[in-house]
Amino acid sequence: MGYVTQDEWDSHYGAGRSFRPLDDSEHELLRELVPSPPGGGHALDVGCGLGEFARHLAATGYTVDGVDYAPSAITLALAEPTSSQPAGKAQLWFVALWNPRYVQASPLLTDIKAELDRLKPDMKRVSSARQGLMDELSDRLAASPEFDDVILLEGRHQVRQTVEQYIGVWRSVNDVRVQLGEEKFERFLDYARQRIGDAETVETTYLTRAWAARRAAL
Ligand SMILES: C[S@@+](CC[C@H](N)C(=O)[O-])C[C@H]1O[C@@H](n2cnc3c(N)ncnc32)[C@H](O)[C@@H]1O
Repeated sequence: MGYVTQDEWDSHYGAGRSFRPLDDSEHELLRELVPSPPGGGHALDVGCGLGEFARHLAATGYTVDGVDYAPSAITLALAEPTSSQPAGKAQLWFVALWNPRYVQASPLLTDIKAELDRLKPDMKRVSSARQGLMDELSDRLAASPEFDDVILLEGRHQVRQTVEQYIGVWRSVNDVRVQLGEEKFERFLDYARQRIGDAETVETTYLTRAWAARRAAL
């Protein structure tokens, strides 16, 4: 499987693929290992997928929050029949985290990025497409009857990297590397090194945004 991105997980569930349900011995083992405390406990199932573990915990008395960043998983999890289970109290949350580099905060990094446009004016960046999606995510969640309690957190932080760490980050940006081709890509990295000059470190600002939206009871 080896999925990494949110899109891959979203397509996985969207295409009807899932994981096998817990069998009786696994239910039994979980009841032994994580019995709900007297009066019920509160559990958080991170990466809940279709909610198999969340439903088990809810059935044993926990109040459960399940979070997953694949919208298709949350939609399908809510559609799963729960009638064979005792009344549970599962709540499901959609959560997503996005933390791109905030290049505008640095004239040096803005200039290095501009070199990309000079080398390939028609460059298609995966990050730009995602930027558009993320810019409208809060509005889309707020407008959707399927979610309520939309929460958006945003913060910036600085990371200081050695020049080679900074260059290493660019080396891992595959879409740029493939579109530029090896020769232009090396020219681009040379340009970056030359602009950084004698500085020993490069400071990058990251912009982190986190969304959480509770699945409405429909
Ligand atoms: C291997 S599946 C497990 C699903 C479920 N817990 C189960 O056992 O059936 C991993 C799940 O984690 C979710 N996931 C992976 N990275 C995530 C992230 N950064 N934030 C939220 N969910 C994430 C995926 O969408 C996927 O549903």
